[in-house]
Amino acid sequence: MAAKRIGILGAMPEEINGIVSLLKGRSEVIKGMRTYYIGTINDIEVVVVFSRWGKVASATTVTHLIVEFGITELIFTGVAGAISKDLNIGDIVIANSLVQHDLDARPIMKQFEIPLLGKTILYPSEKLFNIVVSSTNELIKNDGLANLFSLSECHAFSLFNQKVVVGQIASGDQFISSSIEKEKLLKVIPNVLCVEMEGAAVAQVCYEYNIPFVIIRTISDSANENSIIDFKEFTAKIASKLGVIIVQKLVNNLKNDFYH
Ligand code: ADE
Repeated sequence: MAAKRIGILGAMPEEINGIVSLLKGRSEVIKGMRTYYIGTINDIEVVVVFSRWGKVASATTVTHLIVEFGITELIFTGVAGAISKDLNIGDIVIANSLVQHDLDARPIMKQFEIPLLGKTILYPSEKLFNIVVSSTNELIKNDGLANLFSLSECHAFSLFNQKVVVGQIASGDQFISSSIEKEKLLKVIPNVLCVEMEGAAVAQVCYEYNIPFVIIRTISDSANENSIIDFKEFTAKIASKLGVIIVQKLVNNLKNDFYH
């Protein structure tokens, strides 16, 4: 079988540091203000990099991973703001579809249509998606992740009731921090679960280069007036550890899939 090389793109520097510490035989390449960490996790070749924030930055980083490092699949992890009322801080969302909520070339095209692709929604590769859903569910069963944190952190961030949810993620170059903005988004994208600033851009690049991808997001805030406080606390205390565990488990499961 052709060699596999997984690109691991993270939206939080803290998360990247933790994932980098898992690497064996590590080397680094610095290019375009980004540091690419190359090595293996459980004998699988990986390249780990901080995406930087926003659609342009993350699209540039994933293009570099594909063209310069020859990755064969892409895993993206980070945090997101909840739009759906059913989501709590700490829940894990795995994208089954992605849309760029700030892409609007009307009246030339439909709202959200990606120029020249003629698509408004992009989908992750089914096989990778299924592996991510099952490995993340395995992780959280029986409070599996709660024991990584103190009791007070578990209560503060609902980590005893954490759930994995599959659905649509919307991305745009905007940090959503008001109930009015949330309502506006829900009106035009009624199925959206959560919002962030990179996923759909990364999906577009992977689609254009035919690279299987999956986008995993942990809810850090409710995209409302409290979001900046919640976001800062969650990313500092929780997200960094969660991302590492999710990636470690996933790479182990992918190894079984690749080589057995
Ligand atoms: N990432 C995490 N929370 C977010 C929010 N509220 N808006 C956009 N991106 C986010």
